[in-house]
Amino acid sequence: MNVKLLQTIMNLVITPDMREAVNTPATSRGLNRSGEEKDLLDSFSPNQFSSKMNLVDHVNSLDFLTKESEIVIFGSWYGSILIPAFYDKVKKITCIDKNKTMLNMAKYTLFKDLDVDWISDDVFATFRDQFKTTDLFINTSCENMKPMRDWGPIGPKSRYDEIYRKRFGIPQTYTDPWWDRVANREKPAYFAFQSHNIFDIHDSYNCVKTIEEFKTQLPDRAEVLIEDSMPFETGTRFTLIGKI
Ligand SMILES: C[S@@+](CC[C@H](N)C(=O)[O-])C[C@H]1O[C@@H](n2cnc3c(N)ncnc32)[C@H](O)[C@@H]1O
Repeated sequence: MNVKLLQTIMNLVITPDMREAVNTPATSRGLNRSGEEKDLLDSFSPNQFSSKMNLVDHVNSLDFLTKESEIVIFGSWYGSILIPAFYDKVKKITCIDKNKTMLNMAKYTLFKDLDVDWISDDVFATFRDQFKTTDLFINTSCENMKPMRDWGPIGPKSRYDEIYRKRFGIPQTYTDPWWDRVANREKPAYFAFQSHNIFDIHDSYNCVKTIEEFKTQLPDRAEVLIEDSMPFETGTRFTLIGKI
């Protein structure tokens, strides 16, 4: 973790107005924050730190990242903790998120001095050539999107039953699944995915009850190297790390 970088970022995140709100009596605490400010602060919460650092520590324990490595973060949100954690270790980090407002906050404010690639898109929308050379795909937002196994799913549509359609809609079908495209090369593509079981959070429409259920959402050819379940106050966060 690059603590200096993180300090600079925290100074940007915590504006003078916020400091004042925190330092004044309880009456004003938190009341004046906009939804966006709260969301940004939440991305640096203790809970976020412990869950992201759990993933970072497990990835580092596998010791495959080098100065030549490339990381893609799906549903990156602001990239708050993952970017400082990996920036100095690798050659390139790409963040993909469909929410342009969040992505721009990260691109033009938080990480404006860093050389990070920012793509505003649905991760299921476009296959990009850079995926073919990506060493590590991170997704800590698995509960917020369709299962990762369906990233370029194999047809036919009949494979997806009524329950699937109700939850995720009718899937697109591809003759060339995207995980196969990133796998056919000399080096493995690693993945580090997280999900959780807190079903009542807004937008978390793909939560899983157990880590076993989470495994059913992995691509067919995934080999799990590390699995971990982290309890916190309101539920459990699941981590799966492996290679394709
Ligand atoms: C609430 S945030 C992060 C939640 C996650 N638990 C975490 O701590 O990293 C979820 C992010 O996923 C993004 N997202 C959801 N579905 C997406 C998709 N299909 N493509 C790209 N981004 C997506 C949202 O825009 C949002 O920024």
